[in-house]
Amino acid sequence: TRVEKAGYKHFMAKEIAEQPSVMGDALRHYIGEGGQITLPGGGIDFSRVSRLTMVACGTAYLACLTAKYWIEQLAGLPVDVDIASEFRYREPPIPEGTLAIFVSQSGETADTLAALRFCEGKAQRIVSVVNVPESSIARESDLALPILAGAEIGVASTKAFTCQLVVLALIALEAARQRGTLDAPTLARHIEDLRSMPGRLNAALATEPRIEAIARQLSEATDVLFLGRGAMYPLALEGALKLKEISYIHAEGYASGELKHGPIALVDATVPVIVMAPHDRLFDKTVSNMHEVMARSGKVLLVTDTRGAAEAGDGVWQCLVMPEVPELFAPILYALPAQMLAYHTAVAKGTDVDQPRNLAKSVTVE
Ligand code: G6P
Repeated sequence: TRVEKAGYKHFMAKEIAEQPSVMGDALRHYIGEGGQITLPGGGIDFSRVSRLTMVACGTAYLACLTAKYWIEQLAGLPVDVDIASEFRYREPPIPEGTLAIFVSQSGETADTLAALRFCEGKAQRIVSVVNVPESSIARESDLALPILAGAEIGVASTKAFTCQLVVLALIALEAARQRGTLDAPTLARHIEDLRSMPGRLNAALATEPRIEAIARQLSEATDVLFLGRGAMYPLALEGALKLKEISYIHAEGYASGELKHGPIALVDATVPVIVMAPHDRLFDKTVSNMHEVMARSGKVLLVTDTRGAAEAGDGVWQCLVMPEVPELFAPILYALPAQMLAYHTAVAKGTDVDQPRNLAKSVTVE
């Protein structure tokens, strides 16, 4: 069936807007009425798993990096995350008890598929998180978990990213349940929090007019930095990736604490620095990094919540206030302003948003 733009100017805009609804589908698929997680095909037996290797490319790789924070924190399982094109040539040792998880929207990315076959050759159990259930990666996995995002046409991944995050969060919670690292009430609260995400995403989408206005100014920049700490660090990488992919503005993402080890040398009044920082337990540290930027006349766009804006919004170039979100799942919600900023900046620059130059939706060559 042909997918239409349904009145939107671009597929990317439609796919950004669809996130609350497709995420709701994914949550209903994996969470039963009583709030229990149900993975298909007997699920994953974590009693035999002592570490995880996660392998992917592009935005899917950044979903894995985010999941590393969740799985290590919630389930106490060590996680290695690899870029697929690096993984197999490095010939990594794969100790007994390693579970390999491959994440791919298309399920056809050549490097990810080759990495999967490498693990298959080592007789590993293979789990994949895919959007296309009939894809090669899904077919060659022992267990394929669909993300149920629906067809994604825009080259820059949006709804697939947030749906990947949801399925990976469920894997983290399921691992924690089986390993007994979370007590039942805490587990139930996290599951309820995940279920509340579609409603929160709707509230985040409502900030779009403000984002559009900021993006018009951002479109004048030639270099942009994104900063984040903890699980917001992979999101800073994703924000930079999205922006460079579709607006062609040079953008880099950094862990906030790394600023002083290099990127601060680039900061002056012409470089917007986008700080992704909900008011979490690391907020004060991120704010002090932000002040280092401001002391060098850097233009800070602080993306935060009401409390963060009240505590640290003074003196920044722009402050974008996001709806409240449980700390654990903030990366899911903050993906939306990152996507909308990239989208509206690209629209302001008049680039081909859905088919950016030199990029392909699915890269089936090495
Ligand atoms: C391409 C796309 C990206 C995507 C990456 C991985 O580079 O442009 O949006 O994140 O491939 O694709 P996959 O289908 O494996 O998730």
